[in-house]
Amino acid sequence: MQPEVKDIAKIELHGHLEGCIYPQLVRRIAKRNDISLKADLFTSEDTFAWNNFVEFLGAYDEASFCLRSGQDYEEITYEYLKQSAAEGVIYLETFISPDHAKDVGIGYEDMLQGCVRAIDRAEAEFGIVGRLIISCVRHLGPERALKVAELAVQNPHPYVVGFGMGGNEMMFTQADFAPAFDLAHQAGLGCTTHAGEIVGPESVWDAIDNLPVTRIGHGVRSVEDPQLMGVLKERGIALEVCPGSNLALEVFPDWASHPLNRILDAGIRVSLNADDPPFFATTTGKEYQNAIDHFGLLSEQLRAISRMAVEDAFADEQTKLRLLSRIG
Ligand code: ADE
Ligand code: ZN
Repeated sequence: MQPEVKDIAKIELHGHLEGCIYPQLVRRIAKRNDISLKADLFTSEDTFAWNNFVEFLGAYDEASFCLRSGQDYEEITYEYLKQSAAEGVIYLETFISPDHAKDVGIGYEDMLQGCVRAIDRAEAEFGIVGRLIISCVRHLGPERALKVAELAVQNPHPYVVGFGMGGNEMMFTQADFAPAFDLAHQAGLGCTTHAGEIVGPESVWDAIDNLPVTRIGHGVRSVEDPQLMGVLKERGIALEVCPGSNLALEVFPDWASHPLNRILDAGIRVSLNADDPPFFATTTGKEYQNAIDHFGLLSEQLRAISRMAVEDAFADEQTKLRLLSRIG
């Protein structure tokens, strides 16, 4: 008999802290901070209102605008970890954007310490291990990205394990951000960038040719280029696949056209992720369930994906061994 999805230990390598705040929590924090939210931020069904990728990024920025203190960061991190642990997630790396904090006047150290308190509490209470990927925002440009990398490197913390980039993939090139990524990489941080999500395989080539990345956020449009698929396999570059996000953002029109199985069949390393749960009506648990329902994966294959994700995680080796022993 197949074990239930809830009993499979899950690993989330691609979630955004600013993108994991449910409308109710946005409202609660906004009220505490005396902030009036844009009237059109939510739909009548109490989800975030957006119609396309650029509007999604706008709603995401607007929701994170309510965060005003280390306590706010502690609360959203704790909620995210608690909800994830309840679904069987045992390890989670979340992107966190100091630029979003800076725009509303929160210092890096306050933001970081809020997250660290939540990570400690969540591990003590629920056994989930949380780690942070400091993320720059692509559409803010390479100079601000370098400043973000400098913050990460000048304030090392054992829970800060990576450096990443999200935002509008249609602006700038990946190569423009090489100074930021090189600095982070030389300081020992694992590196990943969003590529091959909104833009095609050329964006993935740009990333793997110019940045010290071992993982790619999404990368699903690599399937449009067989040569690229071969190079991803050869170099062991892992794709952080987020099928629910891809469908919500209409990167693919339906489950049948999503290339998860083609990527797995090509021998490319993958993890299964939720990206921004409340924006895309998904969670890590739902993504594992979707893998069974829509891609026909068996629970043993999901366990193998969890093991692969641990191997590709940016955590230290001792933490990885501990996690592997929990996957079984
Ligand atoms: N930031 C948060 N989610 C993102 C996504 N799916 N693509 C690019 N940037 C993002
Ligand atoms: Zn993302």
